[in-house]
Parts: sequence; structure tokens; C-alpha cells
Amino acid sequence: MASVPKLSSVITWVLYFIPVYIFVLEPILRPILSGPFKPTDATNLEYEIWESEIPLEDWEETEPPLHLQDDSRISPEDGVPTNCPGEAPGYKLHLLSRTPLVIYIENFVSDEEADHLVDISLNKYSPSIVYDGVTERVDPSKRLSDRALLDRDDTVRCLEERARSFQGWRPHLYIERMWAQRYNTSGHYTYHYDWAGSLARGGDRISTFMVYLGADCVGGGTNFPRLRMPAGNQWCDFLECEEEGKPVQEGITFKPIKGNAIFWENLRPDGTGYPETWHAAFPVTEGTKVGLNIWSWYQPPRRKSQKNT
Ligand SMILES: *[C@@H]1O[C@H](CO)[C@@H](O)[C@H](O)[C@H]1NC(C)=O
Repeated sequence: MASVPKLSSVITWVLYFIPVYIFVLEPILRPILSGPFKPTDATNLEYEIWESEIPLEDWEETEPPLHLQDDSRISPEDGVPTNCPGEAPGYKLHLLSRTPLVIYIENFVSDEEADHLVDISLNKYSPSIVYDGVTERVDPSKRLSDRALLDRDDTVRCLEERARSFQGWRPHLYIERMWAQRYNTSGHYTYHYDWAGSLARGGDRISTFMVYLGADCVGGGTNFPRLRMPAGNQWCDFLECEEEGKPVQEGITFKPIKGNAIFWENLRPDGTGYPETWHAAFPVTEGTKVGLNIWSWYQPPRRKSQKNT
């Protein structure tokens, strides 16, 4: 007659099984249970478009926000050889955040490049505008600065190429025509995102380089209230750190330092925007700050061929 095992021996076997499961069975089963390992190749990362939400016929009728043929808005790779004037600066990278990717770039442009870009921006400035999704208008309460569209001379093209190679020459990435932004005393830009959530309509700003070309100013820091101050005081060269008696601002604030840049990714791999990239240009309290925006658009090819298949 089969005997019922005693409760104590059942418990003993269960106790033996736990380490066997943790150290032997689980590692063996893990790849089977979690599906095949998918390597991520960052340089060929294809953004998933929310095709399920957008009927393909709508895709074709909607104009993409950025026209690939429009030279006034993007800087196409047109085969003009890159002829970089002067010494390449040899920049130095500091990783601030992995998700979203935020990299501080020391010496992204040389002093000569920065001065040249400021020179070619003079006489081209007009008041910066804000865009609410419908109209463009000047609104000094939100944004008080002047902006200048830069001609694509050798230095600008050299910088376009630097921005492209920094991002691994990713496919479907287009550098937007570069704008210098000049902030006089009291100039500022309130909190905003650089992305528009428009990838589903054809393209969006996948990344931003915020380069400081001129920083003869007090104030004018670039604040990210949703990013956290890294531990240690190594970052105090680039970020405003707590001073006695002075409350530290929310999040982190980059000091304007000529030649240095902040690079960040605006979009998650699924194409949605990172809320952590919410940022502002704090008011300049003395002097003038000149910034340079290098925005990269991600605009996958439109899928006309799929419509009739
Ligand atoms: C900034 O200063 C320049 C030079 O004085 C001036 O032409 C420009 O209108 C000023 N811009 C703003 C937004 O105050």
C-alpha cells in the first residue's frame, strides 16, 4: 500500500528544489521563457511607427512636418565636400543620463568656430517665435530672444557632419538648418519640449544639440527640472551646484560655457517624446548669451508601396 509522504519530507524536498530552481533551472529556462534574444544595434535603430493607430491612407494625405526637399528647413546631404576650416576641436564626452540619453560635450566647437558662427549670424537676427501647433507668433512672455538662420558655409557644413557622425550616421536622420539664438539681458525661453509628438505624421525632432557659442553673461542657464543632479561634485564645473544660502533650482541647470554643448534624445524608441526633456532657458541677468541649436529630424520614408498590397 502506497504511503502518503510525510509533510516534513515534502517541505524538505521543496527546500532542496528552491536553490536548484534558482541556480540551475531558471538560467536554462530564461531564454526559452523570454523569447529569442534581440540584439539592439543603436546605429540602425528603426523607430516603430504607430501603424495600428494610423490608417495607411491617412499617411499619404498628411504632409510630413518637414519637407525633405525644402532647403530652407533642412540641410540635405548634397554631395558638397566637407571642408572643415581650422583645427578639429577634439571634444570630450560626459554621460549624464542613459534614459533619456543626455551627454555633455566639452569643447564641441572650437573658439574660432564659435566666433565665426556668431559673426555670420550678425545682421540676420529677427525676433524668435513660438509655435502653438497652429500659428507662429512673437510672445516675449514665453520667449524673448532673437534668432538667425545660418548660411551653410564650410564651418556650418562641418558642424552638420560632426552632428551626423556623433549620432552614428543613422538612417532617415536629417539635420535641420541651424539657428543661432541670441539672448540679451532679460532674454529667456520658458519650459518647452523640442519634440512635437508628430512622428506619426511623418517626422519629429529625434535629438537636440544645444551649443553655447557666446557666454559673456550672468544667468542664462539651461534648466531641466525633471533630470536629477548626479551624485558627487564632479558635475559642478558644468552644472550649477548648491551654494550656501541660495536655494538650488529644481532639477539640473547647465551653465552657459562657450564651446560646450548638451546633447539629448527627445524620442523614445517607440517614437513618443521623453517628458524628462522639458527644459527652459533661464533669464540672462547681465550680458549676452548666444546659443546654437542643432536639431536632427527622424523622418522614415513614407510607405506608399504598401497601400495596394
Ligand atoms: C538685443 O540687442 C540688440 C542689439 O542691441 C537689439 O538689436 C535687439 O533688438 C535686442 N533684442 C531683444 C529681443 O531685446
